[in-house]
Amino acid sequence: MSFLQLSSIQKSFGPVQVVHDFNMAIDKGEFISFLGPSGCGKTTILRMIAGFETPSAGSITINGADQTDLKPNQRNIGMVFQAYALFPNMTVFDNVAFGLKVAGKPKAEIEARVKEMLALIHLEHLADRFPYQMSGGQQQRVALARALAPKPQVLLLDEPLSALDAKIRVSLREEIRAIQRQLGITTVFVTHDQEEALSISDRIVVMNAGRADQIGTPSEIYNTPKTRFVASFVGTLNLIEAKVKDPAANRVEIAGQEMVIRDSLSTLKGGERVALALRPEAASLNAGSRTDTSIPGEVISSSFLGSVVRTRLKVGESTISFDMFNDPGLTPPAHGETVNLHFAARDLLVIRD
Ligand SMILES: Nc1ncnc2c1ncn2[C@@H]1O[C@H](COP(=O)(O)OP(=O)(O)OP(=O)(O)O)[C@@H](O)[C@H]1O
Ligand SMILES: [Mg+2]
Repeated sequence: MSFLQLSSIQKSFGPVQVVHDFNMAIDKGEFISFLGPSGCGKTTILRMIAGFETPSAGSITINGADQTDLKPNQRNIGMVFQAYALFPNMTVFDNVAFGLKVAGKPKAEIEARVKEMLALIHLEHLADRFPYQMSGGQQQRVALARALAPKPQVLLLDEPLSALDAKIRVSLREEIRAIQRQLGITTVFVTHDQEEALSISDRIVVMNAGRADQIGTPSEIYNTPKTRFVASFVGTLNLIEAKVKDPAANRVEIAGQEMVIRDSLSTLKGGERVALALRPEAASLNAGSRTDTSIPGEVISSSFLGSVVRTRLKVGESTISFDMFNDPGLTPPAHGETVNLHFAARDLLVIRD
């Protein structure tokens, strides 16, 4: 049986339903990310797991024990919030000790545990500082230590990195993941940053308007998106308008050219229009060992992004964006130039709405 189980969870605020029939089984030690746009219900689900909100319907169990009607302090859960929520009038030591003091632990045990937690986040030397004397990244590490000190069964992180600058975000997310692995703690991490979710999660839940559109490993979510929403929210996606030629043979036509795709067209009819997705890294201006198709297109723009050059082409009635690795010897295609776009027809995915 799964460790953290959310079964048919619904949540309404007054007449507005913000979470619809949400189901998820999370294994012990798993790192799960909830990824989705603002307002899709990520925080609401996290708050229901923590006990700050009560589901309108459905149940939550941890290790087989029903939590649905327990108060937050009756659940063994640690939480880190987006905004630094340290107690401003307490030192780092006292912040981390807080949950242990409330639980009435003996002084010697508290001291030992706080020391252990500060070592885990590499801030032993700042035990006597106050929050205002530390950087945002240091404050979030203290918030993490404070959440972990009482040895929670589940760790909840609600956009803990979003107030930090880009470099610190990357190093801190790797630190959080390393600590999570070391402790083996079941973790739910909320973000609206797709790269963050892809880089650190065992599995990702892509949320759309209070529902899970897709639950899968980073590779499944990125490479085989099940809906148009997932495909466009995770990664940069090209949608190519195509016409079904022979559904039984998976044959389509794009800009006057016929090709066979791998994805099934069996639910569609000949002559019907279909949207196909192509990832920017699956297309190139050069024929490669995997490519089997080339279509001419007109260059709309070419932008230098550092490690890659992103080019946009008009192909038939679609606009296709694709990346080439930077190469000092490379001349990016010029605006208005006609070039051939190479890709593998089998990489095209049928997008269902
Ligand atoms: N206490 C509340 N009362 C009424 N509506 C609420 C309440 N809390 C959340 N909502 C609404 O529920 C919806 C989901 O909110 P939630 O905070 O879960 O979104 P989110 O996915 O965390 O978004 P963000 O990325 O902006 O943090 C929103 O439309 C929000 O306005
Ligand atoms: Mg939120």
